[in-house]
Amino acid sequence: MLPRRRRARVEDPSNFSEVRFPGVTIYLVEPRMGRSRRAFLTRLARSKGFHVLDAYSSAVTHVVMEQTSAQEAICWQESRAAPAPGCAGPALLDISWFTESMAAGQPVPVEGRHCLEVAVPRKGLPSPVRMPPYACQRPTPLTHHNTSLSEALEVLAEAAGFEGREGCLLAFCRAASVLKALPCQVTALSQLQGLPNFGEHSRRVIQELLEHGVCEEVERVRRSERYQSMKQLFTQIFGVGVRTADRWYREGLRTLDDVRGRVPRLTGQQQAGLRHHQDLSMPVQRPDAEALQQVVETVVVQALPGATVTLAGGFRRGKLQGHDVDLLITHPQEGQEAGLLPRVMCSLQQQGLVLYQQHQLSRSRDPTHLTRRSHTMDTFERSFCIFRLPRPPGATWKAVRVDLVVAPISQFPFALLGWTGSKHFERELRQFSRKERGLWLNSHGLFDPEQKALLRAAAEEDVFRHLGLAYLPPEQRNA
Ligand code: UTP
Ligand code: MN
Repeated sequence: MLPRRRRARVEDPSNFSEVRFPGVTIYLVEPRMGRSRRAFLTRLARSKGFHVLDAYSSAVTHVVMEQTSAQEAICWQESRAAPAPGCAGPALLDISWFTESMAAGQPVPVEGRHCLEVAVPRKGLPSPVRMPPYACQRPTPLTHHNTSLSEALEVLAEAAGFEGREGCLLAFCRAASVLKALPCQVTALSQLQGLPNFGEHSRRVIQELLEHGVCEEVERVRRSERYQSMKQLFTQIFGVGVRTADRWYREGLRTLDDVRGRVPRLTGQQQAGLRHHQDLSMPVQRPDAEALQQVVETVVVQALPGATVTLAGGFRRGKLQGHDVDLLITHPQEGQEAGLLPRVMCSLQQQGLVLYQQHQLSRSRDPTHLTRRSHTMDTFERSFCIFRLPRPPGATWKAVRVDLVVAPISQFPFALLGWTGSKHFERELRQFSRKERGLWLNSHGLFDPEQKALLRAAAEEDVFRHLGLAYLPPEQRNA
């Protein structure tokens, strides 16, 4: 037998006998607040005698949202059934009302400052743009209406990334990504009203661009020697990441010849990157990517009938150019793909197509790779290559960066989703999974840490369904 107080707490939480404030029925909205915080706040409120419902119903009088804009509140409100005629709907309140009430030990009177300003769309005016906060919750096409604004913010994002200011990088990426998803051109700052992810800094940049056509800060970054060396030179070299580029810059290196002459130990990748630098610094065109996919597919099918090769990355999202070609290999029968990649590489090499390759063994025997919470690098068997792109007779060949990745069929939908990008889309998808759904997503699978179980998927659509998201085709993932 449980002691009395314990028993009271584990009883049906909607039991009215514990409710001290019968006129107040609270519903906490999960998106933004997150599942675990919502559970915590629910327990807190109930322990103080508040009536909190787990599911929304017409009995709710106080809807509480956290970090939610008026725009999102409208979306939320519109997704609910309209209140019965003659009934006022519930109050849509910011978390401040809730925290003040918890501190007071009773519901505080609702004041204007607690209310989310819900703009009621007036007839004749365009209805407000629906803009959910995560990039994976909204379509983002390849071409959009705010290119100069989004590019300016992305310059600042990149510059922040070069300096290791991750928070700043994310804030600018998020704001740029909202601009890409807007259905119309922004011509006045007021149009950003109610949209998520615009911090003060991003607004200032946009305001300056709208008023003067240029933003002084962005131009200063673009002109700076550091940004130019990092972006246009060092991080463009195959095998050079931001950290290496930063170290070289700090050591006073400024040109490729400096790198060639003054860096004592270049990795194999970096040496190959420098050897083919001129070709690799020119974008790969779509027809070239498709031709390479065909060449690889022919070899793959010869080595293992039934195996498939899928063009992923930016090309799958509809881009016409890219910095590399991302190819995913699988076979419909689990396990058949084992040992395939070395045979394929050998065959490609015999055809004289391989200028450089670095084979990375699968580390998938490590059972934690499927369930690790926050790692971005996957552990698929993979080959980082530079191919000699065959050209029409008479023309000279061209070096092209190609990644070949092998995924067993059971993980293929996750691998395809992870390798299609964009990078920002992937980051947001993983964060959405973790924060809003309590699930861990990576390129190997989707893990439920509470059930300690992997969720199955036969196609990308299943992953979206598990996450309660509307499916977005690759062309709409250009976040
Ligand atoms: P890319 O860097 O190739 O990006 O990675 P992209 O969108 O195709 O850009 P371009 O057109 O080549 O310049 C493609 C996707 O693969 C994932 C990235 O996160 C991105 O979403 N990726 C890349 C991995 O998952 N692992 C890696 O090791 C590399
Ligand atoms: Mn790519």
